Amino acid sequence: VREITLGLLGCGSVGTAFLQLLERRRQVFDDMGVRIRVTGVLVRDAARPRDVPAGTPLTESPDFLNECSVVVEVMGGTSRPLELLRPYLRSGRPVITANKALLAECWDELRPYALAGQLYYEASVMAGTPVIGPMSTVLRASTFQRLQAVVNGTCNFILTCMEEGHTYAAALAEAQALGYAEDPPTLDVGGFDSAHKLAVLARFCVGGDFAYDQIAVQGIEALTPELVRAAAQRGERYKLVAELRREDGGWHASVSPQALPADHALCTAGASRNAMVYEGEECGPLFFAGGGAGGMVTASAMVGDLLDWLIGFPGHVPLHGLEG
Ligand code: NAP
Ligand code: HSE
Repeated sequence: VREITLGLLGCGSVGTAFLQLLERRRQVFDDMGVRIRVTGVLVRDAARPRDVPAGTPLTESPDFLNECSVVVEVMGGTSRPLELLRPYLRSGRPVITANKALLAECWDELRPYALAGQLYYEASVMAGTPVIGPMSTVLRASTFQRLQAVVNGTCNFILTCMEEGHTYAAALAEAQALGYAEDPPTLDVGGFDSAHKLAVLARFCVGGDFAYDQIAVQGIEALTPELVRAAAQRGERYKLVAELRREDGGWHASVSPQALPADHALCTAGASRNAMVYEGEECGPLFFAGGGAGGMVTASAMVGDLLDWLIGFPGHVPLHGLEG
């Protein structure tokens, strides 16, 4: 039996679900001749009770990182996770992360590791709905044309609740209770989380060095229940849309609220579900939809990444240059 030592950074909505799913999939690892030993789980408060398997080594010290063969990062933020992962990545070991803020904003430093196949990040965009996998493999062969997506579950949930007559504040509180929202939720409602995800996607579509600050960002804060309901009466639905398209000979990337016809593909996915229309010249229009937020749906992609690494697949390799 091959023993794998795994370190987990963070044990909130996603980290807790990840540990639960590891337990649930024990037979799969046994069948592969692998035993996963979790050697440390970094949190801010190790004394707080959590719904994790008995014996989980919760700790406020990251010392366990020195000994791990793989690290799973679900703590959020940018500078602290980068500081923790830096020596670890330099040693050539793999990282599995759901942290799109880190990927979007610290790309200058992370990109070489992604090119080397050390970064696995299926969960960072649309959680357990696979889009990074196809974009980093088969879709490379097609000429990218346009992408339009709803990639923030919190905003989607809030807008649907407002259509149903709930207040913005009540809807946000419920999205937080469901484990969808970022800390702080301004990342969601301000459009920044969608922009983080769009930056991650753009690096497979138009250029491996696509910068996060190229994206024009507008959130949903100015939308009132009245505006949302008036749109519904016109047969339209407000969505926070992330878009990447050709404009004036270059690529234009934006996040903005848009009132779309109710039968538009992006409107049909459901309250907290994400959706993406991807257009490539040779592959034609493709539609992806599914769960995009929540602990377990995110953990499913991360355990999938872990299995990929164990099988020997490289991580998600972006485009090598600026192609567009
Ligand atoms: P969360 O519930 O807030 O959990 C964050 C965890 O990290 C907590 O256990 C926290 O410790 C720990 N932590 C944060 N800062 C720390 C620090 N400086 N030192 C030590 N521990 C620290 O967040 P989450 O919803 O699980 O999300 C985690 C990551 O996954 C984020 O990058 C998020 O963007 C991404 N993501 C989330 C979802 C989702 O639906 N929730 C989906 C896809 C991706 P304490 O518990 O002690 O406070
Ligand atoms: N806060 C994010 C969302 C979590 O609501 O979509 C999933 O990335």
